Amino acid sequence: MIRPKQRDLFAVIGNPVAHSLSPVMMEAAFAELGFSAVYLALEVDSISEDLDILWNFGFRGLSVTLPFKEAAFLFSQFTEETARRIRAVNTLRRHENGWEGTNTDWIGSVRALEQVSPLRGKRVLVLGAGGAARAVVYGLIRSGAAVSISNRTPERGEALAQAFRCGFVPLAELEKDHSGESFDVVVQCTSAGLLGDEDPQVVPDSFFLPGMIVMDTIYTPQWTTFLKKARNAGCSTVPGSEMLLHQGAMQLEWWLGREKLEPAVIGAMRDALSKALADG
Ligand code: ATR
Repeated sequence: MIRPKQRDLFAVIGNPVAHSLSPVMMEAAFAELGFSAVYLALEVDSISEDLDILWNFGFRGLSVTLPFKEAAFLFSQFTEETARRIRAVNTLRRHENGWEGTNTDWIGSVRALEQVSPLRGKRVLVLGAGGAARAVVYGLIRSGAAVSISNRTPERGEALAQAFRCGFVPLAELEKDHSGESFDVVVQCTSAGLLGDEDPQVVPDSFFLPGMIVMDTIYTPQWTTFLKKARNAGCSTVPGSEMLLHQGAMQLEWWLGREKLEPAVIGAMRDALSKALADG
């Protein structure tokens, strides 16, 4: 049996995890909070076994990244209502008798967008129907937005739209002139471009209109092709790093039992992320 001397152990678990920005962001937050915690990046092979090992080792909280968010939901001993609705867990905290899971991705997207405009009553288009889209759709609906979903595979998009009682728009509709006029906000939740696809074209350039608020959930590079096209068309852009920042802030609030992190802590986390993204 190994008993670590440090009591406040945290980690991000994923595979691969080497390029995760969570450690620099969380270390900056702990430093600003004056809290001497340890935050590691751990590459995990088998989440069901490894969660037991980490619990026995004494870890207090875990961030969960790809590809384990659905598995973490299945293997948490306890789950919060939000995780059950999204059916994915990106945050675990130690409970007396096992891991308790929640999801903070949804609030990350809401807080990132609401820095630019309130969402209540806004017409929002979500592109994609995978796990990232599911969390974003949940957050948008909870914030009172009128949500529509579009996806390359219509069946998957329609199923997500049905699950959350929102609209479905075939991708072909978005190719038509003036289709952008139907939306105030657009959130890119597909993984197009993530696998080295040079110039993913999820919607045509003509779709972007001045005044639209456009967010990409992909944060590397900070200026994705999608965001650059939106910026060039005069849209207000929100980089994916803002969603990463706010989902991380909510993780800290949940682990530490705090109401809301002070602006100075958020600022330190944002600076650390900007530096890490600039350093590549
Ligand atoms: P995640 O959990 O990260 O959201 P996912 O569940 O694999 O990942 O979902 C990926 C999403 O990106 C899906 O909506 C997928 O569309 P399909 O349902 O049609 O597969 C979308 N996607 C991936 N590559 C794409 C591309 N090149 N163009 C358009 N959509 C793409």
